[in-house]
Amino acid sequence: MHTADLLVLKIGGSLFSDKRLDRHLDPAAVRRYARIAADLHRAAPGRVVLVSGGGAYGHGAVRGLDPSEPFAALALTGANAELRWAWTVALREAGVAAFPVQFAAAAVLGPGGEARLSGESVARLLAAGVLPVLSGDCLPDGSGRLHVVGSDRVPGALTALAPGATRIVMLTDVDGVMDGDTVVPRLTPDGAGAGLRALRETPRWDTTGGMAGKLAAALGHSRKGAECVILNGARIGADPAFLLDPVEKWPGNVPRTVVTADGPVPENVD
Ligand SMILES: Nc1ncnc2c1ncn2[C@@H]1O[C@H](COP(=O)(O)OP(=O)(O)OP(=O)(O)O)[C@@H](O)[C@H]1O
Ligand SMILES: [Mg+2]
Repeated sequence: MHTADLLVLKIGGSLFSDKRLDRHLDPAAVRRYARIAADLHRAAPGRVVLVSGGGAYGHGAVRGLDPSEPFAALALTGANAELRWAWTVALREAGVAAFPVQFAAAAVLGPGGEARLSGESVARLLAAGVLPVLSGDCLPDGSGRLHVVGSDRVPGALTALAPGATRIVMLTDVDGVMDGDTVVPRLTPDGAGAGLRALRETPRWDTTGGMAGKLAAALGHSRKGAECVILNGARIGADPAFLLDPVEKWPGNVPRTVVTADGPVPENVD
């Protein structure tokens, strides 16, 4: 993909929070990544959406849920509302018109359990030049049972805003999908076996499958025509604007895993 009409920036909870704890946030890290989101928004107003990882808030709320209790996941909505508010405050301090959006208010679960946007709220914010701030949430099915939709899955619903032209940048604390010491440069829905085999066991405090869950979500988004890039947030320097450029033009010293349904393996041109 050469140009993206929409950039979904997913900031992994591992970058700003210690998931082993409850409701833990690193304020300096939130400020740093809010500045990155603010810079991107200013470079492409109305074309950027922020999705916060759950970190200690999201994972803490859904650890050890009782599967026989249909409303057990409700606490996730409360916890992640606090998290979205923390990002919104940090973005306001960075001078950006940011607005927190509860995913369950903007999306519904389809018959297959896939979340899709159900109204125009996010599109309206973008058209008005506002930066929407989303997170994972729990969504009701037709019988009222609440289902957790983790933050890695949220971008899938947003692809409808820019069909075929959505880039999903997933920032996390590793350089991409690792196969031993090597970053897997590209994965496709058809050829993901090698990448999936390389995944290590997910730690017990993680509730959405760590990298395995992230990769499964990214492969799903790529089937919807999105280009997903998994990279280390710590590798983003002073100017994050390259994230808006075609991936083949990104600096060569930024390792990443690109997950797309088709097209050639991106090469660096500079
Ligand atoms: N093969 C692999 N390649 C890369 N990371 C892997 C692999 N196997 C396991 N992991 C783990 O996956 C982690 C990244 O996923 P994780 O869900 O913890 O991060 P996150 O998405 O940033 O956080 P959050 O889920 O709170 O948003 C890495 O820190 C690493 O420990
Ligand atoms: Mg995760």
